[in-house]
Amino acid sequence: MAEDLKVTQGSKAEQYQDIIPQILGIISDEPDLIANLANITAALKEQFNWFWVGFYLVKDNELVLAPFQGPIACTRIAKGRGVCGDAWEKSEVLIVADVDAYPGHIACSSQSKSEIVLPILRNGVCMGVLDIDSSELNTFDEVDAQYLQKIIDAIQF
Ligand code: SME
Repeated sequence: MAEDLKVTQGSKAEQYQDIIPQILGIISDEPDLIANLANITAALKEQFNWFWVGFYLVKDNELVLAPFQGPIACTRIAKGRGVCGDAWEKSEVLIVADVDAYPGHIACSSQSKSEIVLPILRNGVCMGVLDIDSSELNTFDEVDAQYLQKIIDAIQF
């Protein structure tokens, strides 16, 4: 592998439609989880240039920082803490338009303004989360949730 990513312009949906097949192609032949999570974050960061894109994985009943792109971040998050811990506890996608208005939000950076967190569920068990932060308010919506879920579903544990 190791070809350049084709970064495209267009509506958000069009960008996802261009980038997702490339991501699925990159991860489909590689069995190593960390390698695949690393490339997913790199591809999403390159396409969308969000402030922070990364994974946390459940280890010993905590979320532990895993591959990411962006500034350094909090390393451990307890269940029910912050947006990530809430998404884990509830097994729900959480979309936060304004992180400052979210009770208990964990501010790894003051530059983060809005956020989406998707739990990675396998047989009803949360293996980790995909967390994306934007430096703009109100960046994420159901379109993001719908397309990012396709990436989550393709990750082999
Ligand atoms: N804001 C997250 C913490 C993780 S960082 O944004 C990378 C939260 O509230 O769970």
